[in-house]
Amino acid sequence: MSRSIAQQSVDELGGQSSVLARQRRDHEELDRLMHRYASGGLHAAERQKTLKEIFQLTFSHAFAEETVLWPALRRLAPDGAELTARVEEEHQQINELATRIESTEPDDPRHDELTADAFALIRQDIREEEDVLLPRLQEVLGHDGARLRRLGTTWETVRRTAPTRPHPGVSRRPPGNALAGVPLSAVDRARDALSPPSPRTLWIAAALVAACVVGAALRRKR
Ligand SMILES: [Fe+2]
Ligand SMILES: [Fe+2]
Repeated sequence: MSRSIAQQSVDELGGQSSVLARQRRDHEELDRLMHRYASGGLHAAERQKTLKEIFQLTFSHAFAEETVLWPALRRLAPDGAELTARVEEEHQQINELATRIESTEPDDPRHDELTADAFALIRQDIREEEDVLLPRLQEVLGHDGARLRRLGTTWETVRRTAPTRPHPGVSRRPPGNALAGVPLSAVDRARDALSPPSPRTLWIAAALVAACVVGAALRRKR
């Protein structure tokens, strides 16, 4: 039986740049930020800034999962379709909740209720990935550190150029999400006043996204 990635050493995960170690670091950062938001010790503006950081990390992280990781798991594992459908549904619910949170004033009691619901779903998504999907990916890749590191580099490149806001109307799967991702990312990052990725990173990400689109089209033809 495969072990949760939460219980494995960095070496077992394939090193610091493996996709499994990168996933776990982001999950830990999300947990830290959610605790900070809920701590009660923050001023209103700081609290909203923390919530924005949580959403930026959540949506860029999830977009790269949906375009790079879950298609790989569906290709490699016989039960990949069933496993990924569950987390895509969670991602969709988080997108819908975040959209509702953004349209609610921070002093409205519903704002905190919706935020608590979104945090519960983010935590559920993390558990499902660390305990089930990522160990399954590790298993089908034969615990091969080099492959886990290559996948980690691809995932990270897409994550750095991914949309940073909720988009519940966009497909959670390639090619729909990959096609929408580049223009949405530009708009989101301008609205969030984030520094744009370097031209080289953008070029690589565009090539990866194009590969996702072509791959999905070829699979559909077969
Ligand atoms: Fe994740
Ligand atoms: Fe996720």
